[in-house]
Amino acid sequence: MTENILIAVAWPYANSRLHLGHVAGAYLPADIFARYHRIKGNRVIMVSGSDQHGTPVTIRAEAEGKTPAEIADRYHQLFLEDFAKLGISWDLFTSTSTDNHKKTAQEVFLKLHQKGYIYQRSVCQPWCDKCRRFLPDRYVEGTCPICKSTNARGDQCEQCGKPMNASELLDARCRTCGNAPEYKESEHLFFKLSAFEKPLLDWVSTQSHWRANVQNFTKRYLEEGLHDRAITRDIDWGVPLPLDGYDEKRLYVWFEAVIGYLSASKEWSEKLGKPEEWRTFWEGDARSYYFIGKDNIPFHTIVWPAMLMGYEGLALPYNVPANEFLTIESQKFSKSRNLAIWVTDYFERYQADPLRYLLSANMPETADTDFSWREFVRRNNDELVSTYGNLVQRVLTFTYGRFEAEVPFPGEIDEASQVMLGKATAIFEVVGNLLASCHFKEALRAAMSLAQEANRYLDEKAPWKAIKTDRQNSALSLYVAIAVITALKTVLYPFIPFSSQKVHDYLGLQGNIEDSGWQLALPQPGSKLKQPQVLFTKLEEAVVEEEMQRMGLIAN
Ligand code: MF3
Ligand code: ZN
Repeated sequence: MTENILIAVAWPYANSRLHLGHVAGAYLPADIFARYHRIKGNRVIMVSGSDQHGTPVTIRAEAEGKTPAEIADRYHQLFLEDFAKLGISWDLFTSTSTDNHKKTAQEVFLKLHQKGYIYQRSVCQPWCDKCRRFLPDRYVEGTCPICKSTNARGDQCEQCGKPMNASELLDARCRTCGNAPEYKESEHLFFKLSAFEKPLLDWVSTQSHWRANVQNFTKRYLEEGLHDRAITRDIDWGVPLPLDGYDEKRLYVWFEAVIGYLSASKEWSEKLGKPEEWRTFWEGDARSYYFIGKDNIPFHTIVWPAMLMGYEGLALPYNVPANEFLTIESQKFSKSRNLAIWVTDYFERYQADPLRYLLSANMPETADTDFSWREFVRRNNDELVSTYGNLVQRVLTFTYGRFEAEVPFPGEIDEASQVMLGKATAIFEVVGNLLASCHFKEALRAAMSLAQEANRYLDEKAPWKAIKTDRQNSALSLYVAIAVITALKTVLYPFIPFSSQKVHDYLGLQGNIEDSGWQLALPQPGSKLKQPQVLFTKLEEAVVEEEMQRMGLIAN
């Protein structure tokens, strides 16, 4: 039975380029998941877009002397470039600046308003008397009342993840001028989050398929009690309110950005020419998976589900496989200290698959993990080049040269070969189950273990030697090895799609690998192979030092 799967991926703020933390945290796992389901024959839409509103973008614009729209457009284009290089296979990557998004966000707002989940209240807002303005969200900074980090912002503490009301900050200061803010009354609209405390707790408690870190974080959060949240801001950049009397205000960026999942699905549907098609991903038994980094958990397991509960009729998230953080050379990501690896810089020197491979093998699924150049070189050389690449290379090159570029006829299949073929057949269920349950790291390990088995099998069979004395025996083991390679290019496809497509071609198979299904299609004896080319290149050890120098972690 084909499933309908919505893959909803965090919307990056259009104020900065993508770095490896974004890739490992959300985009790569989402893409692996999407590719797996597509090749399996399920219906998938993978959507996201650039998060263009709010103070993250206005602050950047002010710093560069540009308009927020200019900044947002520029980063949107750069995201598209980076995603193309990484092979992130969007069904749609849009933005929150579209008319469709504005319309959808306003419609959700109005429905929640009509149903009594949105009300007005006067609140004390930080006001900078020097700058003569209110200081929404990131315009105010201070000390986090929970973890005491001194760089907490008015919207959230990045250190501990606590979503913040500016008034909770200790030693608050204006980001622009450093002044201590005063507090002034301002009328704002609030979303009645508190009304959903009980329904959310009941719902979360039944989500036993969630990752433990996501479920525990959410439960703890709910048990502390939910407070209503302001969903408007004194700012002029964002989605306007569809109500009279709020011309000076905009919807809070988080409130409208999460609605982006719905508006993007509608836009996708519109572009397809089937304007109601989005419903098959949002209604009935369609499942939705939200791929996000851990700092976004409360918005996706509490705020957005509460909005959906209030709205009614659309599916709640089925799973929110949030990832932890990726550290770089054992240190926390920091733009200011140059402790970041930008996707665009990476591609000046290296290919997509080695990065996708490393980040999959080292994915921060249940705990923070570390990216190091040493590990990058090691995994590339020992695993991609030696274990997998060499297997493909030696089998296909030898067969190409010695068996007239054709898949050999296996003849009678002995026990060891039978066992090997059995493993190549069984791998699909093993890897498939791990992928379907979002255990990406383990899935990759299982897939690679098949390559290791194949190498052991070939070492024993040594077809390169056998050919001198027993051509049929050599043909058998090469046939079996080609079958295993056929399995490997498929189970590795979600992780390393570029090289999998190449292997698909070398095997003489037609078309796009994604149409070839998630099962072992045994190679046809006598069918033509294509001349294989080098799949992966070995990296020099010197790469480690060069890259560390580039990052300023060791002296030149
Ligand atoms: N822009 C946010 C961030 O980078 C993520 C927003 S996810 C969304 O942290 F769905 F709400 F847009
Ligand atoms: Zn100020």
